[in-house]
Amino acid sequence: MTESPPARIFADSAEACRTLAAELAGLVASINASGRPAVLGLATGRTPIPFYAELIRLHRAGELSFARVVTFNLDEYLGLPAGHPESYHSFMRRELFDHVDIPAENVHIPDGTIPPDQLDAHCAAYEDAIRAAGGIDFQLLGIGRTGHIGFNEPGSPRDSRTRKVELDPITRQDAAPSFGGLDHVPTHAISMGCGTILEARRIALLAWGKGKAAIVKEALTGPVTDRVSASFLQEHPDAAFYLDAEAGSDL
Ligand code: PGA
Repeated sequence: MTESPPARIFADSAEACRTLAAELAGLVASINASGRPAVLGLATGRTPIPFYAELIRLHRAGELSFARVVTFNLDEYLGLPAGHPESYHSFMRRELFDHVDIPAENVHIPDGTIPPDQLDAHCAAYEDAIRAAGGIDFQLLGIGRTGHIGFNEPGSPRDSRTRKVELDPITRQDAAPSFGGLDHVPTHAISMGCGTILEARRIALLAWGKGKAAIVKEALTGPVTDRVSASFLQEHPDAAFYLDAEAGSDL
């Protein structure tokens, strides 16, 4: 049974980010009021940057506290130490964590320097930590031109879990400018699986710009298939796409 998630199309990314950030602040407050921390799944890439800027603005305005927020990031490049400027550890500090009141011990990001013989155990421990936190209340996603969510490239099974993945050539090409050339882009990553992501209670996928319009349409209206991992969101009971006018222009 498939019923497409709603596509919420906004005039621009700023309006989409304001809307979703206000919704998220309300969700965090209501979960905290029920007596427990809110568990957020976070994403990296160009897309969430204006969303994180809006969360920081709400925090500075006294409208959102991360004091009782626990986070799990989707993925990390294999081979990059946390201090590398292109690591997702660095990204998250720069774009969000350094600017809000989140306790360091509440932050979880896969370790890109884990030795090969410890990788499976590291991934299993990541899944265990999500479960121990009570599962993810809200998962933020971008979408790659391959249709990936996290780094679940074409062929990633519906029930995949956190694991080592190989990056698609298109994904590596898209990352090449920020790495100063394709040769510097890692070939592998650790990523939450499609199954991990789909267990989140609520999911918001963000996409901006004409370059995402075709894959957004395919994910929302095409077949549910492991060739486009975002298409699995069609089967999620509480997922929505937050789009600017250009990303929604093929719908
Ligand atoms: P982008 O990446 O936000 O940099 O476009 C999205 C993604 O690959 O998920």
